[in-house]
Amino acid sequence: MKKTKIIIATSGASGINLGIKTLRLLPESIEKHFIMSQNSQIVLSKEMSEVTIHKNNDISASVASGSFGIDAMIIVPCSMNTLAKISCGIADNLITRCAAVMIKEQKKLILAPREMPFSAIALQNMYKLSKLGIIIAPPVMAYYSQQQSLDDMENFIIGKWFDLLGIKNNLYKRWQVEES
Ligand SMILES: Cc1cc2nc3c(=O)[nH]c(=O)nc-3n(C[C@H](O)[C@H](O)[C@H](O)COP(=O)(O)O)c2cc1C
Repeated sequence: MKKTKIIIATSGASGINLGIKTLRLLPESIEKHFIMSQNSQIVLSKEMSEVTIHKNNDISASVASGSFGIDAMIIVPCSMNTLAKISCGIADNLITRCAAVMIKEQKKLILAPREMPFSAIALQNMYKLSKLGIIIAPPVMAYYSQQQSLDDMENFIIGKWFDLLGIKNNLYKRWQVEES
């Protein structure tokens, strides 16, 4: 059976650890491709250490072609810069090229934009992409799932992304109404 292929990309917004943790928690059965933007590496150096970094300037990578057959892509975190480029069809690096491929091939593309507050420009870009079927799923906290720690909170957010990717998971406690 063909393996599901997923791209995890990080661009230069705060929260690179979320992207890396998402990659780490993906099931072994999935073929994983990881891309970091140059600026993401700068942010990472401010926020984390000890991580394997892949090149974003290699636009001849296998994943840059629609024929490679990537099933889904998620950009965690997605900077406002990368969001803007994707919404305009700019494909000037491996991340934005892969996003453009996902859109043209009508494959699942999830963006986790991280900024606060969002400017009207960012909101317009998200709205435009959302209307094209791109899923806008920012890392938004919730409190109904009995999270006790930052790790629990991150697992909740990643669990929601896995749900969107169709990946079964028990990363968070799902909402259940108590039967009376
Ligand atoms: C420590 C640090 C944190 C940043 N956090 C954010 C952020 O949360 N959201 C965002 O849109 N940009 C953020 N930026 C700015 C982006 O890194 C910058 O716009 C960059 O051009 C993004 O490039 P990329 O989209 O190619 O990764 C941050 C920059 C630094 C140095």
